[in-house]
Amino acid sequence: MSKTTIVSMPGDGIGKTVLPEAIRVLDAVQFAAEYVHADIGWEFWTKEGNPLPERTIELLAEHKLGLFGAITSKPKNEAAQELSPELRAKGCTYFSPIVGMRQRFNLDVCIRPCRSFAGNSLNFIRRTAEGGFEEPKVDAVIFRQNTEGLYCGLEFANPPEIVREALAVHPKWKAFADTPPAELAMSMRLFTRKACERIVRAAFTYAQKHGYEGVTICEKPNVLRETSGMMEEVAREVKKDFPDIAHWSTNIDAQMMWLTKNPEAYGVMVAGNLFGDILSDAFAGLVGGLGFACSGNIGDEVAVFEPTHGSAPKYELLEPSIVNPIAMVLSGAMLLDHVGETDKAQRVRNAVGTVVSEGKVRSYDMMKLRGGPEAIAQGAATTTQVTDAIIAAL
Ligand code: NAI
Ligand code: MG
Repeated sequence: MSKTTIVSMPGDGIGKTVLPEAIRVLDAVQFAAEYVHADIGWEFWTKEGNPLPERTIELLAEHKLGLFGAITSKPKNEAAQELSPELRAKGCTYFSPIVGMRQRFNLDVCIRPCRSFAGNSLNFIRRTAEGGFEEPKVDAVIFRQNTEGLYCGLEFANPPEIVREALAVHPKWKAFADTPPAELAMSMRLFTRKACERIVRAAFTYAQKHGYEGVTICEKPNVLRETSGMMEEVAREVKKDFPDIAHWSTNIDAQMMWLTKNPEAYGVMVAGNLFGDILSDAFAGLVGGLGFACSGNIGDEVAVFEPTHGSAPKYELLEPSIVNPIAMVLSGAMLLDHVGETDKAQRVRNAVGTVVSEGKVRSYDMMKLRGGPEAIAQGAATTTQVTDAIIAAL
């Protein structure tokens, strides 16, 4: 059988720790793949003035499938200071390479499943009216629009005259017209009908395929009338093609309250870029936090799978590493699903479920310990031990 080639982009910090762990699990489940390394992240910003080198883009364009760890981003001024001296005068500006990758390959559908594993001591519990406790099963799958919205990158500090003039066609500009431009900053929330349609359709299709009753659009159309309003309008249209799937809507602010009251009521959800980012982190908190939060960035041609956590620089140099590899391992399982290896994907998830429910091998976060070298003496497993346990459970 021919092998699938996967572009492996560890990136920075703990991305370099967890990605090889996921590959160990993929090997153990006998996924016929080979991995080519690709450069991404802070090191390439400082040395080359580009955190997403063209050679990495080319590898992704060629092989279409990527596993990504995490990158480190720093604020504008810090980024400029860390640039190697010969690059400083060249006008390089830092951009997030993961956002860049999503935009470059139009990886516009971001899927973030948040499912509780039985027996996870980090699972959300709530008090019953009788004073006891109950643990609702969480099974939410967030579809986040990944390329536009408030993260589309159209931003201005000190906006030029032509931009201010253009905005003056809007009656609301009056309130800001007298603010000195140097004291203005703006980030545009831009939605296109095409991208709304793609994310909503992807969500309805997923709901139908996986037996969910409905799709919840989580936006804010009462205030963000144009952008959220467009998403709602598109959802009403798309729903017509899915007569058996219900269409519900919630507002992002109310949803943040509801998800800690009745998280079991939500299944497939759709949101724009920023709201989807918030919503998926919030749901992740109910099922174990960042150590469990996996994701896929999916376009028509290219797909990249990554944990939603960042590079956690404070743990980068800990030896042995203590961070939880499960988010990365589950991202690997999403890749398996994507390429049609659904049995292998399910075996990986079952193995994670076994390790979690047995509770014998737990990383520091699963034990609610403070992260640090002392966690191991307190009984926490190392990153490698968690992966070993998953592989043993396979
Ligand atoms: P972070 O996700 O890197 O870490 C926040 C905290 O979450 C950590 O200090 C740790 O306590 C916990 N954590 C994260 N991953 C964990 C794991 N696998 N196991 C156990 N605990 C884990 O977010 P932070 O600290 O806000 O950002 C650090 C850097 O990462 C920044 O430079 C940020 O820009 C970048 N970042 C990158 C992302 C990406 O590559 N997609 C996403 C989010 C942040
Ligand atoms: Mg986030």
